[in-house]
Amino acid sequence: MKFIVGNWKMNGTLDEKEAFLKALKNVKTNNKIIICMPFTLVYGNDHGITIGAQNISEHANGAYTGDISGQMLKDADVKYVLVGHSERRLYHNETNAIVKAKAIAAIKNGITPIICIGETLADKKAGRTMTVVKKMLLECIPEKCKYIIAYEPRWAIGSGKTPTLEEITAVFETIHKTLHQQGCENISLLYGGSVNSNNAKQIINIKNVDGLLVGGASLKSDTFLPIIKSID
Ligand code: 13P
Repeated sequence: MKFIVGNWKMNGTLDEKEAFLKALKNVKTNNKIIICMPFTLVYGNDHGITIGAQNISEHANGAYTGDISGQMLKDADVKYVLVGHSERRLYHNETNAIVKAKAIAAIKNGITPIICIGETLADKKAGRTMTVVKKMLLECIPEKCKYIIAYEPRWAIGSGKTPTLEEITAVFETIHKTLHQQGCENISLLYGGSVNSNNAKQIINIKNVDGLLVGGASLKSDTFLPIIKSID
C-alpha cells in the first residue's frame, strides 16, 4: 500500500469538498488516500478517503488565539496532520524545534504527523541538499517512530520542476539510512513537489518512496483521479 496525500493549502469550500468526495466515492484503489484540508473542512471523516489537517499547535491549550490543538483535531477525528510544510516555515517562521514540538503534540493525541522537509534552490545550487535534508530530519523527528516524512524540495513546489529520478533516489536513501540509524525502521517516506499524473508512477516506483504529497493537482478530482489511477 502506498500513500497518496493531497494538500489543499488555503483552498476549498464546503461545496468543493462535497463535489470532490462525490467524484472520488467509487474509486477503486489499493492505496491510502488522504486529503489534508483547511480546518473548516476537516470535520466529518466518514468517507472512503481520509481527511487530514495542515497544521497543529505545539501547545496543549490556552491563550493562543487562532491556533488549533491536537485535542481539537482528535475531537474532529483527524488522524493525520502536516507539520513543517515549507510554507509554514516561510510565512510563519516555523523552526525545526517548533516542527518537532508540533509532531510530538500530534503523536500525543494519536494523530500521525507528516513531517515536511526539503532544501531551497540556493541549497541545491550550493550542493548542500544532503546536508540540509539530514539536518532538518534529525532536528524535526520526535523520539517515537510514529510519523511519516515528506521530502519536498522547496524549489519543486508549484514550479512544475522536479528533481531527477537519480536525485530523488539518493535523497530517499539518505533519509532511509538516517532513520535506520535512529532506530526507526518502518517510517513511510513521501515525495512532494510538482507531482502530476505524468510523473506520479515513475516517482512512486523509486526505491524507498512510499507515497506522494500532491498540492495543486489534488485540488480537483479531474487532476487527482488520474494520479490515483496511474499508480494502481
Ligand atoms: P505542488 O504539488 O503544487 O507542487 O505542491 C506540493 C506541496 O506543497 C504539497 O504539500
